[in-house]
Amino acid sequence: MARRRQIYEGKAKVLFEGPEPGTLVQYFKDDATAFNNKKKGTITGKGVLNNRISEFLMMRLGEMGIPTHFIRRLNMREQLIRQVEIIPVEVVVRNVAAGSLSQRLGLPEGSALPRSIVEYCYKNDDLDDPLVAEEHVTAFGWATPQELDEILSLALRINDYLSGLFYATGLRLIDYKLEFGRLWENDQMRIVLADEISPDSCRLWDVKTNEKLDKDRFRRDLGSVEEAYQEVARRLGILPESGPTDAPGTETLQ
Ligand code: TMP
Ligand code: ASP
Repeated sequence: MARRRQIYEGKAKVLFEGPEPGTLVQYFKDDATAFNNKKKGTITGKGVLNNRISEFLMMRLGEMGIPTHFIRRLNMREQLIRQVEIIPVEVVVRNVAAGSLSQRLGLPEGSALPRSIVEYCYKNDDLDDPLVAEEHVTAFGWATPQELDEILSLALRINDYLSGLFYATGLRLIDYKLEFGRLWENDQMRIVLADEISPDSCRLWDVKTNEKLDKDRFRRDLGSVEEAYQEVARRLGILPESGPTDAPGTETLQ
């Protein structure tokens, strides 16, 4: 394959210049980090599975009228996406207490929340993505009040849809993180869902047993990490037949 210009390398993905202007290729790595890079490891086959899982979820959301950056999956580890201007705010949606919310407010993990809660974090690795208020987002110009309204409305629609979709597969969507970007088309700007949705960015618990089937297995050294990602893909009906490996001959467009 011809060498491509790398645009950006993140902790779990690499972005390359795409084949047409305004497009990028998003490559999913097996690298896993937690606690803002303090813990590092590899989850074998994760990139292949997250590429498929994120493709599946972005496509379903697109069908529901949620605009996304996703265009199509290219191969086992890559997808073609629209180039967007990422808004430097991580949008965390919570349905059940867990993780940093449980720690911050002393809520037992798994306790019901009175309603879904949306939190904003400033996307800045040097500062460990601190929790911020809407006021900070608009005062510092990371997003305008109108953009933030649109982001909140999209995040709540996404939450309703994804909660139902996962529940139908026996998974409870505990919480997750979304990123949004500005997409420019003929002087018009739209807010679209960007980045990925996968067990890296969601907490997913089995409805019956509360078994964790997400990156918390890696963060907390619970074991069976690869199996958890495979199980999520299997429940969504998208586990690659050949298993989560880079099988030869899969670099074709689908
Ligand atoms: P938290 O409880 O650690 O704040 O995480 C909330 C959700 O956001 C959880 O599903 C994991 C996800 N998340 C990310 O995708 N990236 C991050 O950097 C962090 C801190 C959380
Ligand atoms: N994604 C963050 C990191 O790479 C934090 C996390 O997911 O726990 O460290």
